[in-house]
Amino acid sequence: MTPMRLKGKSAVVTGGAQGIGRAIVLGLAREATNIAVADLQRDKAEEVAAEARNFGVTAIAVQTDVASEESVANLARQALGRFERVDILVNDAGIFPQARVTEITEEIWDRVLDVNLGGNFLCCRAFVPSMRAQKSGRIISIASGIAHTGAVAGAHYAASKAGIVGFIKALAREVGPDGVTANAVCPNIIDTELPRSHRTPAELHERLVRNPLGYAMQPEDLVGTVLFLASDAASYITGQAVNVNCGTVMI
Ligand SMILES: NC(=O)c1ccc[n+]([C@@H]2O[C@H](COP(=O)([O-])OP(=O)(O)OC[C@H]3O[C@@H](n4cnc5c(N)ncnc54)[C@H](O)[C@@H]3O)[C@@H](O)[C@H]2O)c1
Repeated sequence: MTPMRLKGKSAVVTGGAQGIGRAIVLGLAREATNIAVADLQRDKAEEVAAEARNFGVTAIAVQTDVASEESVANLARQALGRFERVDILVNDAGIFPQARVTEITEEIWDRVLDVNLGGNFLCCRAFVPSMRAQKSGRIISIASGIAHTGAVAGAHYAASKAGIVGFIKALAREVGPDGVTANAVCPNIIDTELPRSHRTPAELHERLVRNPLGYAMQPEDLVGTVLFLASDAASYITGQAVNVNCGTVMI
């Protein structure tokens, strides 16, 4: 098998200031990949970039709203200016304000779609041209098992995540001839701030451990799949929505 060979590459990770994004940043840094941590939360992004630098890589923090064209253009300028090339784009930034369909305001609907799906579009549009020019690149988007199953009080979120899967499949066809791959990953529930706000600790624990392995999925449990998809070892994998869900479905 081709080795992972992530050393010396450069990555942009949106939503990298905490949770799954932070774990991906540190996982990449451990593999000697340079990183731009892009997140709304500037101070936390700076902290994660500093943690990444402990592995001897170059890491910068760029305060970014992935739903803003101007902000994403600034991210591209900063990352490409610092690293000259971006080999890996991880679209992780996402929000999940729970509400049933009859309670979703247009404002909430628009924000969820703008951040979760629009953010994928804007970031890919910003980084695809340089990936095409260098004839290589890896795009990995964090979707969700909810893209396939739906979830009560999650229609807007499910629509955004199913949208990511369709978007990535289409993008993969467009960029494949230029040596760029695009894949989504669909995890089940992971122990981060995101589901914590929706459930009591007891409900959350019960839900988290209801799987064949019997323990709660941690952000680090997703990192190996993302690193693999980002690596040379995954050269023939594109247009996929990879389930990382222990064989369970989201209900
Ligand atoms: N935790 C889960 O159970 C779970 C399951 C499946 C998929 N996901 C997805 O994984 C991704 C990360 O989730 P998490 O659990 O780490 O969540 P989290 O809330 O812990 O972290 C999300 C990060 O995204 C950032 N962010 C939010 N809006 C942003 C914006 N507009 N621009 C830039 N950054 C923004 C936040 O500041 C935060 O740092 C999300 O896309 C989420 O939908 C999470």
